[in-house]
Amino acid sequence: MNKKYRKTIIAGNWKMNLVPSEVKAFADELRAFLPKARTCEVALLVPYTHISTLRRALKDNRIGFGAQDVSARDKGAYTGEVSADMLSDMNAHYVIVGHSECRQYHGDTDFTVGEKAAAVLGKGMCPIICVGESLEQRERGLTMAYTTYQVLAALSYIPEGKERQIVIAYEPIWAIGTGRTASPEEAGEVCAGIRAVLRAKRGARAARSVSILYGGSMNPGNAKTLLSMPDIDGGLIGGASLKPRDFSQIVDAVALAAQEA
Ligand code: PGA
Repeated sequence: MNKKYRKTIIAGNWKMNLVPSEVKAFADELRAFLPKARTCEVALLVPYTHISTLRRALKDNRIGFGAQDVSARDKGAYTGEVSADMLSDMNAHYVIVGHSECRQYHGDTDFTVGEKAAAVLGKGMCPIICVGESLEQRERGLTMAYTTYQVLAALSYIPEGKERQIVIAYEPIWAIGTGRTASPEEAGEVCAGIRAVLRAKRGARAARSVSILYGGSMNPGNAKTLLSMPDIDGGLIGGASLKPRDFSQIVDAVALAAQEA
């Protein structure tokens, strides 16, 4: 399917790394490495504590930023939580919801993930909805059934007509932080399957407008082949996003992949 209908996005997921006082040096280094003419959007998804420093350090408004999680609730007595309203007030662009680490360590269910996506959308930001199977599910042949269910559950919280304001990230759990990447064919097949689910539920126009990212040990060495798959519209990058040079090489790979397409 033609990629011209959607954005290509390279988003860094810093997870729980770096401290706020390291953010400015990181941003300066990244800006020096990043290609001046970019063919994709670049964003950094950082801990809540880093957002305002990053916002100031970036200056360059061509680098988006955002958070790695959000509360499903509006406001009130929810100690420790951060609302979508708070993030939008800081001009965040993107918010990850349903990362497998949040599902695993914070007990996020498919329904909470949908609620969080709706909260983010409701405040004019873009949710990056993560889905992906475990190794056992893959080995039992349940990859597509499981990711389809996750996508359908999240989609049930997304109002009709708002599809182009969401991003889906396919992140097989067995590939996250393990150095083991899904092959371009494996990743491409699941991303195509996700788009087929979108098409069946919301129609061809909506399906072609949703950016679907791949995440799981993407690095400068494998980015180009992954990004050349027709249904992979970018990457959600963990480990490699903490190294400005590696991260910007992944951004370079977007243009290289497009040349080959
Ligand atoms: P990784 O993480 O690139 O370190 O595998 C990706 C992610 O969890 O978003």
